[in-house]
Amino acid sequence: MREKSFSPPCPDSLQRPLRDLRISVTDRCNLRCAYCMPQEVFGREFVFLRHADLLRFEEIIRVARQCIALGVRKIRLSGGEPLLRHGIERLVEMLAGLCGEDGKPIEIAMTSNGTLLARKARDLKNAGLARLNISLDALDETIFQRLSGKRAPVSAVLEGIAAAQAAGLAPVKVNTVVKRGINESEILPLIRHFRHTGVIIRFIEYMDVGLSNGWRLDDVVTAREILARIDAEYPLQPVAARYPGEVAKRWEFADGGGEIGVIASVTQAFCHECGRLRLSTDGKLYTCLFAGEGADLRGMLRAPDSSDEGLYRRIAAIWRGRGERYSQQRHILAGKTAGKVEMSYIGG
Ligand code: GTP
Ligand code: 5AD
Ligand code: SF4
Ligand code: SF4
Repeated sequence: MREKSFSPPCPDSLQRPLRDLRISVTDRCNLRCAYCMPQEVFGREFVFLRHADLLRFEEIIRVARQCIALGVRKIRLSGGEPLLRHGIERLVEMLAGLCGEDGKPIEIAMTSNGTLLARKARDLKNAGLARLNISLDALDETIFQRLSGKRAPVSAVLEGIAAAQAAGLAPVKVNTVVKRGINESEILPLIRHFRHTGVIIRFIEYMDVGLSNGWRLDDVVTAREILARIDAEYPLQPVAARYPGEVAKRWEFADGGGEIGVIASVTQAFCHECGRLRLSTDGKLYTCLFAGEGADLRGMLRAPDSSDEGLYRRIAAIWRGRGERYSQQRHILAGKTAGKVEMSYIGG
């Protein structure tokens, strides 16, 4: 029997209910974006997790089930690059079979760099994937190469986006991290490219995730600046959030050209509404993108006396004890936190 006090919504110490689970399925990526996996740090000698250390699909499903019992309604697969995980379609299929306690299916989404998507989009859709967010920071080949480590052409990402749209993984969203002096010049070309296509492009303020990207506040192009630049050419009007706690602020073109978004995690932190729990590739739960440490579940999953009830209680206790709100405290915490986990490992 489950304790009644744990039934959803399960509030954390700041009264935020658990809503989203983000699962990193691999710490590897075929790109080397300078703001996430800089080549100098993630070079040939970098030691990635061993296969035996990764959570197996059955283990991921066990964790997902307990999170759903605690209120999770959306699961997002990420990485690293999730399409590098062998058999990912099977995991999507397993997750898509899960329902909430209200009997409604859980929404399964993915964040990918798009380069391997062209041949996988249809299978992912058939497996039950609902939506895809795809990273693309520039259309200009030179800028894209400089940002992503010279490992794949822009055309591979554009083909991935087209394949996702053709497969009906709608709405396809594009994520563009804007870094000052590097790709601000790409904002308007990207807008022109994706207007009237149904693709929703979201511009993201460059964040101080992890310890390896050399983040400086001066490198952040604020959402306000981004919107002003776009609005000057294509007037914008605000649109209501699609769901409570949505990270992107939505805008639409006044002329009917479609929707865009900005993710202002540095200048307009959204921690007060954050209901996201993250499961790392090797089975640790992180209660914030900027956390230094996670709570290990793998040991518990692999213990001979492992029980779902025990797992449920542990996850509930972790969530109820959660008090993080890093982005709202960045001015006090930046540079002072003991360690910050890398985004490629925790899953963005
Ligand atoms: P949907 O709204 O479901 O489309 O997804 P999403 O925007 O939450 O997911 P996505 O993986 O596309 O994330 C977009 C950007 O928002 C990435 O740069 C994420 O790191 C950032 N982001 C997502 N969740 C959080 C969060 O909890 N905190 C912070 N600071 N940034 C986040
Ligand atoms: N700041 C902002 N966004 C980032 N992403 C990766 N690293 C950073 C960072 N330092 C984005 C990627 C991807 C999403 C999961 O997170 O571009 O779209
Ligand atoms: Fe790979 Fe995404 Fe990180 Fe770029 S942002 S290195 S595509 S995981
Ligand atoms: Fe949530 Fe932490 Fe991001 Fe704030 S900084 S929105 S608490 S993940």
